[in-house]
Amino acid sequence: MARNVSDTWRLDHPWAHLYSFGMARRSLARAAGVIGFGTTFQGLYDAIDSLAYTPRGGTVLDVPCGAGIALAGINRQTRVRYLACDISPAMLVRTREAAARLGVPIETLEADVASLPLADRSVDVTVSLTGLHCFPDPHAAIREIARVTDDRIELTWLRADAGTRYRPVIAAGRAAGLIGPSATLLEVTDWLSAAGFLAYGVTEGAFAYVSARRCS
Ligand SMILES: C[S@@+](CC[C@H](N)C(=O)[O-])C[C@H]1O[C@@H](n2cnc3c(N)ncnc32)[C@H](O)[C@@H]1O
Repeated sequence: MARNVSDTWRLDHPWAHLYSFGMARRSLARAAGVIGFGTTFQGLYDAIDSLAYTPRGGTVLDVPCGAGIALAGINRQTRVRYLACDISPAMLVRTREAAARLGVPIETLEADVASLPLADRSVDVTVSLTGLHCFPDPHAAIREIARVTDDRIELTWLRADAGTRYRPVIAAGRAAGLIGPSATLLEVTDWLSAAGFLAYGVTEGAFAYVSARRCS
């Protein structure tokens, strides 16, 4: 069977190490983001920081969790249930290490975002950071994230309609099997709307940033 983009990530491509190292260091990530993608990643760090306002006892789903950069947003006093989900066992090890360093209790799920082992509306907040462009079927991922989320969704991704300036880097990512078909901002807001969410999004450089709340 042909390999898809998720298979590349599951096998822990060397880029996964480099990416995890860079994104955990905000000033390094911002500099790389501006040079490579025309974005400071402010929207991504805002999504992480917004996790501090999760109500006490609420459930957060982080998919894909990667090396656990979103854990930095958790306020340990709030006692949230944190579900870290990724298709890559190596990434889940990195997330467990990050959680231990930060003293945040987590549960890990090795699963495909397109088939989450979670009940309908069982999660309060889902963050999916730099994820959609790494999935073979972004629409299936959005449907599944929406199914399990009761209140709020935060998404950031490398958009399918990024300008010509970014084509070489996207072509290199596709050649390496790290970037899939992705989606435009309009496609994602339409998919969220069809799934019962009101979505607000912006683009900055090659990236899109969306916040969505359940409205039905
Ligand atoms: C660019 S990283 C982003 C990770 C993290 N959210 C961050 O911002 O650092 C993409 C992640 O997607 C994961 N991934 C790829 N396909 C997946 C799938 N079908 N289901 C769940 N995770 C997947 C990879 O293993 C990788 O950890």
